Amino acid sequence: MIVLLLLVTATAADDGVFDIRYPSVVVAAQDDGNVSLQAGRMTQDLHVLPGPNGGSVYLEDVDLRHIIQIATSLPPVWSAHAHVGFFGTFKGEEKVDLKLEAEDPEGGTITFALVAGDLPPGIKLNGTTGHVVGEVPDETNSYSFTIRALDSHNKYADAVFRMETLEFDHCTSNPCQNNGECTDTKAGFTCNCTITFGGQKCEYACTSRAVGVQHRYTIPDAQMTAYQTYSTLLPSNGRYAASGYGWCGEDSNSWLQIDLGNLTRIYRVMTQGYSRSQYTTAYTLACSTDGNIFQKINGTNGNDYTFLARYSSSPYFQNLPTPIVARFIRFHPTSYSRRPCLKVEVYGCHVYGSE
Ligand SMILES: *[C@@H]1O[C@H](CO)[C@@H](O)[C@H](O)[C@H]1NC(C)=O
Ligand SMILES: *[C@@H]1O[C@H](CO)[C@@H](O)[C@H](O)[C@H]1NC(C)=O
Ligand SMILES: *[C@@H]1O[C@H](CO)[C@@H](O)[C@H](O)[C@H]1NC(C)=O
Ligand SMILES: *[C@@H]1O[C@H](CO)[C@@H](O)[C@H](O)[C@H]1NC(C)=O
Ligand SMILES: *[C@@H]1O[C@H](CO)[C@@H](O)[C@H](O)[C@H]1NC(C)=O
Repeated sequence: MIVLLLLVTATAADDGVFDIRYPSVVVAAQDDGNVSLQAGRMTQDLHVLPGPNGGSVYLEDVDLRHIIQIATSLPPVWSAHAHVGFFGTFKGEEKVDLKLEAEDPEGGTITFALVAGDLPPGIKLNGTTGHVVGEVPDETNSYSFTIRALDSHNKYADAVFRMETLEFDHCTSNPCQNNGECTDTKAGFTCNCTITFGGQKCEYACTSRAVGVQHRYTIPDAQMTAYQTYSTLLPSNGRYAASGYGWCGEDSNSWLQIDLGNLTRIYRVMTQGYSRSQYTTAYTLACSTDGNIFQKINGTNGNDYTFLARYSSSPYFQNLPTPIVARFIRFHPTSYSRRPCLKVEVYGCHVYGSE
């Protein structure tokens, strides 16, 4: 074992072959000289010791202890209870949040990366947190993928996972009411309602469901028009529960038209009066699917079917002789006191799907 006992400050000159400086000890050689340190001839050791208070040994700028750490570091280990192999079976649309579990034997930080295969669409791996998060796709399928657990020294362990997804049948919970027939779709379900029911879940009894002439948000002003309007008693005043006289026409040629926005199976109509002096007592109806060609609602004897109305402000209901499918409906007052005024509501269901 050699020990350099440096008691003197320096020897030799600037261009000397040997140069020791104190107290920060530097052993230097001439430009063309090598420096060798060798222990005694027997099996003796050579010790290079940093200071006792946390110094390091450097080779060039590299900390030798760090290199040794890397060389001796162990790869991460997947935890026994990690979902290695089989992640599980998941129902379509289920939200998942699974934690990958691997440990660094040295206690360092692990990151994760997908290195082969595919995660199900909609599911993502957060490499920092090791969470596998997302919404399970609504289909029956099996996915295999390899995830790498990586430690700070680039040592890694790969594990293969499998995830099975099952299509979710939205009809299992029987969302369609009133004997509607459910069909499962990718996005949800559709209900084929029996004839007198409507709405997404067949929740409306169409014979008594107001389409909403009363409300601007279901039937905007622009969808209420008329032929001949008296003064400022505009078609948009012809809504059920509107204030005042409602819409008033000029004479028996006048009509009030409502665009229901979509094809609607109409079962019933309702009128409301306002004043004992100006009100409609009878009217006929015409309907259209396109707004161009209108057909009168027929009575039994080939005449136009006559609907009755009153001056009273309480709702006055009239059923259609048979339900009709139309988007546009026209009220033609045929008999009235002073002026043909009306406030109306229509009852039925949109024919296609929603509402
Ligand atoms: C320095 O060491 C190298 C490699 O061992 C050797 O080739 C060279 O001759 C040495 N230089 C001197 C000046 O001894
Ligand atoms: C991973 O999760 C962390 C913590 O929740 C979050 O800050 C980070 O943005 C996530 N990274 C990705 C890629 O989603
Ligand atoms: C809806 O149900 C009726 C009556 O069962 C049937 O005739 C019709 O074909 C069904 N429509 C659809 C789109 O399934
Ligand atoms: C009528 O209903 C269908 C089906 O729900 C929809 O696609 C369409 O946009 C609706 N039309 C109007 C004018 O609301
Ligand atoms: C009323 O009768 C006429 C003539 O027969 C017919 O063209 C029309 O379609 C009928 N109206 C309705 C709403 O069915």
